[in-house]
Amino acid sequence: MTQDAQTQRFSFSLHATDGKARTGVISTPRGEIRTPAFMPVGTAATVKAMMPESVRATGADILLGNTYHLMLRPTAERIANLGGLHKFMNWERPILTDSGGFQVMSLSDLRKLTEKGVTFRSHIDGSKHELTPERSMEIQKLLGSDIVMCFDECPALPADRDRIAESMRLSMRWAARSKEAFGDRPGHALFGIQQGGLEQDFRAESAEALKEIGFDGYAIGGLAVGEGQEAMFGALDFAPDMLPTDRPRYLMGVGKPDDIVGAVKRGVDMMDCVLPSRSGRTGQAWTRRGQVNIKNARHADDPRPLDEHCTCPACSNYSRAYLHHVFRSQEIISSMLLTWHNLHYFQEIMQGMRDAIAEGGFAAWEAEFHATRALGDI
Ligand code: GUN
Ligand code: ZN
Repeated sequence: MTQDAQTQRFSFSLHATDGKARTGVISTPRGEIRTPAFMPVGTAATVKAMMPESVRATGADILLGNTYHLMLRPTAERIANLGGLHKFMNWERPILTDSGGFQVMSLSDLRKLTEKGVTFRSHIDGSKHELTPERSMEIQKLLGSDIVMCFDECPALPADRDRIAESMRLSMRWAARSKEAFGDRPGHALFGIQQGGLEQDFRAESAEALKEIGFDGYAIGGLAVGEGQEAMFGALDFAPDMLPTDRPRYLMGVGKPDDIVGAVKRGVDMMDCVLPSRSGRTGQAWTRRGQVNIKNARHADDPRPLDEHCTCPACSNYSRAYLHHVFRSQEIISSMLLTWHNLHYFQEIMQGMRDAIAEGGFAAWEAEFHATRALGDI
């Protein structure tokens, strides 16, 4: 990076809105992020089965990395000594890192939650670790993350109101400590995370607490944790509106194509999910016409591509019969091709929405999206 690039600030400019849907650009010293943006997940310093240049070729502007996994293996200090996460994994563009709290609660053993933070045992080797807002900020700085997430915590849903309120208020105190520990780092952004479950009053209280502290962007956390799409959309009917209009809004851990479209319709600018990459490794493809299970015997003699309209390498160069064969044979290329296709399709949805919003045609685009899916697979 040039000196200029290092001093360039993080900024967000909104270019058009259509209903509640928004399109714009986040500028960072490592490049621009077109919104609405889908962030592929590169948990362990790799988007599994993909070379970074291939991830870029699908249309991704930014990747997500995980504090929790990287602190355990290979450790943040080792990555810092090797020149930071971008260099380590050969991805020069922006990286957003999640803060670890959410992953500790879902993946680690023997967790103990206190006001100070959380102690836990590694799911890899059982070793003991501690994460606090201060340590999470330190790790994300060592990694060289461009967009740092506050350290937070959230209950699985359903949970009772007392538990949701208590957890949200703890996360808001941690948000204040995260901001203090993050300090002033030009060119790097810190995002707050709204919590409060499906409860409108707690979401409002959380948004007010975060705005009072002041962040570069605002995430909506604590959704897609077992509540179902209807309940999630119910919360998204009010949650994004509580956050500042001039900052990016990031819905964490979402989702399926129709979840993503519904979230953008309700005012969300950024999302991440393991779904396209993970399902690529289990033989699940996502296409304009819905889900396709490539292991199904009906594909064994089918010379047609997965999706005749898709321009990805899997659809341009291979038949369903071949994809079926390599999946059944457990060949590594199966994960590579299906992951590429899925990431390409997710990015195509994002580009379609960005164009539609810019032209004021989001409703028509959405109607076409649902009509094509309703046809079902060929
Ligand atoms: N990923 C999905 N949901 C969440 C959340 O609520 N908090 C954090 N930190 N990460 C998430
Ligand atoms: Zn394809």
